[in-house]
Amino acid sequence: MAGYPQDHRSNGEPSVADADSGSGNKFDLVILGGGSGGYACALRAAELGMSVALVEKDKVGGTCLHRGCIPTKALLHAGEVADSARDSESFGVKATFDGIDMTAVNAYKDGVVGKLYKGLQGLIKSRKITYVDGEGRLAGPTAVRVGDTTYEAEHVVLATGSVPKSLPGLDLDGERVINSDHALLLDRVPSSVVVLGGGVIGVEFASVWRSFGADVTIVEALPHLVPAEEESSSKLLERSFRRRGIGFELGARFSGVETSDGGVTVSLEGGKTMEAELLLVAVGRGPVSEGLGYDDAGVEMERGFVKVDAYCQTSVPSISAIGDLIPTLQLAHVGFGEGILVAERLAGLNPAPIDYDGVPRVTYSDPEVASVGLTSAVARERGYDIVEMNYDLGGNGKSQILKTPGAVKLVAQKDGPVLGVHMVGSRMGEHTAEAQLIYNWEALPAEVAQLIHAHPTQSEAVGEAHLALAGKPLHTHG
Ligand code: NAI
Repeated sequence: MAGYPQDHRSNGEPSVADADSGSGNKFDLVILGGGSGGYACALRAAELGMSVALVEKDKVGGTCLHRGCIPTKALLHAGEVADSARDSESFGVKATFDGIDMTAVNAYKDGVVGKLYKGLQGLIKSRKITYVDGEGRLAGPTAVRVGDTTYEAEHVVLATGSVPKSLPGLDLDGERVINSDHALLLDRVPSSVVVLGGGVIGVEFASVWRSFGADVTIVEALPHLVPAEEESSSKLLERSFRRRGIGFELGARFSGVETSDGGVTVSLEGGKTMEAELLLVAVGRGPVSEGLGYDDAGVEMERGFVKVDAYCQTSVPSISAIGDLIPTLQLAHVGFGEGILVAERLAGLNPAPIDYDGVPRVTYSDPEVASVGLTSAVARERGYDIVEMNYDLGGNGKSQILKTPGAVKLVAQKDGPVLGVHMVGSRMGEHTAEAQLIYNWEALPAEVAQLIHAHPTQSEAVGEAHLALAGKPLHTHG
């Protein structure tokens, strides 16, 4: 990488460049957006010796740290604690559940975010990245403008992320009709909520609010909750949600909402109406790309997303794009991976493209839904002759101790490697770590069956499913 003058790097204090100084600044790399994708790219590029400017208008860490993964998982954990207190007698423990103190829950959640935020700021500082606090705009193939300052670089990375979407004609007032950003700021537990969208966000919030004591109904246009997952996983989630008293309307399309002081009346196509205190709109997230100069610089776009090749390079060779801004899986860990890929490509390391099928996907509801690889439907679509194996957590000692229902389902090529691992159950998301090695290393069922799993763990269920698929089932009925 060409060496630019070192004086643009910080050397101690957080290097916040003065966005109004009017002076020119030159770097190897300027990154627009300091979320998961942008900051991962900055950290890796700096590690590889590049001079890096990271432009962020809000807080480094972006959606994941401040409005997404981290705060929602803190809420979900608080929900798990509430459920454990409620259910304590079934474990022979006498505890009482007196209710949710939302101020204290938020203090816990904000404390986790605050600690990670501080750590991340320290990392940025220690890698000598120039942190530019301001709103940037692409000003050409090798330039980003922030206020009156132009930051020039050999390469630019666009990482401006995504925001919650709504439906045409559905206006969010932030009070009665809200999105996930508003939901994270609520200072009370709503008495009742209609959740529009049974994807990841809808299902996670439904799970939290139910644990906190709210009446929850999910409205999903497709035939199942988390419709991108293996159908059997969706059905297991639906069964658990039904038991938990979470309502859902599947194959139901929203037609309108009326708000009043008391709450909302939500109407579905077909005439059904539902009353609730709040409507949460969770119908997907859209890219943040408008008005940022991408079109003007000649970057090819599609429905607001920036188009990239397998190496995250845009139609303009000096410009790359990563994270939720490009049409790949909208997951923080995908953003990390794409950020690292781009930094390594620009440093000449020839990294391999990402196999997106091999990226783990986890919905952190109770129960969790987790998967790696192909669903049986996608495997068939791609022409594989497949075999399937379902291992019920009823035979798994640790899951019985935790009292969690669920299953591990495998999809494998007939006489070939494992193509997909699909898991449902409390804490099963942790086992994507093993599942991703199995999928990405193209393991045969017999090879995994050979490995002894620790007893009693939930990971044993992954081992047992492979034993069964390899023709030597152990704790399997029928
Ligand atoms: P999503 O795309 O996962 O789900 C939106 C759901 O809304 C879909 O199932 C869709 O069929 C439904 N829908 C759309 N229009 C509708 C209508 N008119 N009536 C009824 N249903 C309708 O989007 P979501 O849940 O908002 O999440 C956004 C992104 O954030 C996703 O890509 C997700 O993967 C990511 N995310 C990931 C998390 C995780 O990894 N645990 C947590 C939260 C978000």
